[in-house]
Amino acid sequence: MNWNRWVREGHRWLSIAFTVAVIVNFVAMSQKEPPVWVSFLALPPLALLLFSGLYLFVLPYATRWRSVRRTG
Ligand code: HEM
Repeated sequence: MNWNRWVREGHRWLSIAFTVAVIVNFVAMSQKEPPVWVSFLALPPLALLLFSGLYLFVLPYATRWRSVRRTG
């Protein structure tokens, strides 16, 4: 499996982790005294989603830039 596919797969599974964390947040907030740490649960997957997402965004442009440089 190459690097780009690995990042895409990671991004996909992180999105599930993030979604679960958001749901856990909603459940926790419905409690009388929600524990404070739960509100931070979604932040680590979101941070990783941001970096892997930016990587995925740049990918097609980087590929084009590389091929132009090779042919030009
Ligand atoms: C935090 C900032 C995020 C950025 C910058 C970002 C960016 C991207 C980019 C550029 C792609 C690739 C689109 C393409 O096919 O060309 C992508 C795919 C995707 N993103 Fe994100 N994303 C972010 C957060 C999220 C979140 C919060 C979720 C869901 C909870 C999510 C779920 C997905 C999924 C499921 C895909 C498709 C992955 C695949 O092709 O297998 N992303 N994202």
